[in-house]
Amino acid sequence: MSISRRGFLQAAAAGAVELSLPRSAAAASLSELVNTGRSARASHPLNILILGGTTFLGPHQIRYALERGHSISTFTRGRTAPTIHKDLFREVEQLTGDRAGDLSALQGRTWDAVIDNSGQRIEWTRDTAQLLKDSVDLYVYTSSTGVYYPYLGDDLTEDTAVLLEDLPNETLREQPSYGVMKANSEMEARRAFGDDRTSVVRPTYIIGPADSSNRFPYWPVRLQRGGEVLVPGKGHDRVQYIDVRDLTEFMIRLIENRTAGTFNVAGPASTQGMHAFVYGVHAALSSEVSWVMATDYEFLQEQRLRFATPWLMPQGDYYGSARINIERAKAAGLTYRPLARSTWDTLEWWWSDAVTDERRATAWLAGPRSFPMTLEREAEIIAAWKRR
Ligand SMILES: NC(=O)c1ccc[n+]([C@@H]2O[C@H](COP(=O)([O-])OP(=O)(O)OC[C@H]3O[C@@H](n4cnc5c(N)ncnc54)[C@H](OP(=O)(O)O)[C@@H]3O)[C@@H](O)[C@H]2O)c1
Repeated sequence: MSISRRGFLQAAAAGAVELSLPRSAAAASLSELVNTGRSARASHPLNILILGGTTFLGPHQIRYALERGHSISTFTRGRTAPTIHKDLFREVEQLTGDRAGDLSALQGRTWDAVIDNSGQRIEWTRDTAQLLKDSVDLYVYTSSTGVYYPYLGDDLTEDTAVLLEDLPNETLREQPSYGVMKANSEMEARRAFGDDRTSVVRPTYIIGPADSSNRFPYWPVRLQRGGEVLVPGKGHDRVQYIDVRDLTEFMIRLIENRTAGTFNVAGPASTQGMHAFVYGVHAALSSEVSWVMATDYEFLQEQRLRFATPWLMPQGDYYGSARINIERAKAAGLTYRPLARSTWDTLEWWWSDAVTDERRATAWLAGPRSFPMTLEREAEIIAAWKRR
């Protein structure tokens, strides 16, 4: 089935695409049930500075923190405009500068906590942490499970050793790799604030509305189209992801409880395989799908299909990428929305004005930030799988 934005909106208005997850009264009570007590106001309103705040994670943090009664300042270059929760930015103090050289807007100010979302260089985190260490109580660094690359273990806990330098190889890097940059940035935050005033959050793939990548959106959008759907990987290949709202609420909760430490943030709550994942996404939809489960790694390697996030072929350096231990975060209050909720909200956002027609169209073309495969490529791989 081919879907257009107009078609989606018309069907949604008529209730035709909401059969499996109604949004009106029933959905409201579902989300109340799932999020019981979360939107009550915090007992102590806090002043929170977000380094960043306008792309994906930031707008959700702002929405939830304001709902809890906190005050928010953001610090950006003023280049990226939020695409969701835009109206809420009227209530936000928006400071302008540049982490690469102009932190003057942060000087002489005090906050209860800072969330560092925009740390893309080790020296950026070093400079802001050093500048703010005597004027902010808690530094919350948004890191990544990328620090565990290469993902070699069966159970990657927060105590697993991480690389602080790239392994020597033939490729000369100008900048450290992502995981090494994040691991060193975590250290810079701790060096300035000390272990008891630093909170490091290591999310896996973040999913949900305003996703700046086309990784997770592929699955809801593809499954909504229906037809023969290629699913790479074995049924039990592990997958992990975290809804941006669950991550957000966890981070604000850490600040409210003034919890220091390092936390892996991944879901779902219990182990999930790739087949359970695609069935879970499809459970929010009513499209007619016929599954083509391509379970042979050798075949997938031949087809150069090693990633269709959240699935990564669990071999070599990626073996343990979805074997991230989440017990510490769960004990500290991490909770989970159902996958059907993440799926539905992602689709609603995907077909909204927050996403341009150009993005919706180019996602289907081959390119570095596109969906994991074009429809033509998917059909070719399915044909090759059937010929085996
Ligand atoms: N997406 C995932 O699956 C995933 C997984 C694990 C971890 N993470 C981490 O999660 C974090 C969340 O990123 P996000 O984009 O969602 O955060 P965000 O806070 O919503 O947006 C990033 C912000 O950084 C600002 N920025 C960029 N360069 C800047 C500079 N030189 N000086 C000042 N501000 C600058 C941008 O605004 P301007 O452009 O206006 O400056 C933008 O507001 C990142 O640290 C990422 O590594 C993401």
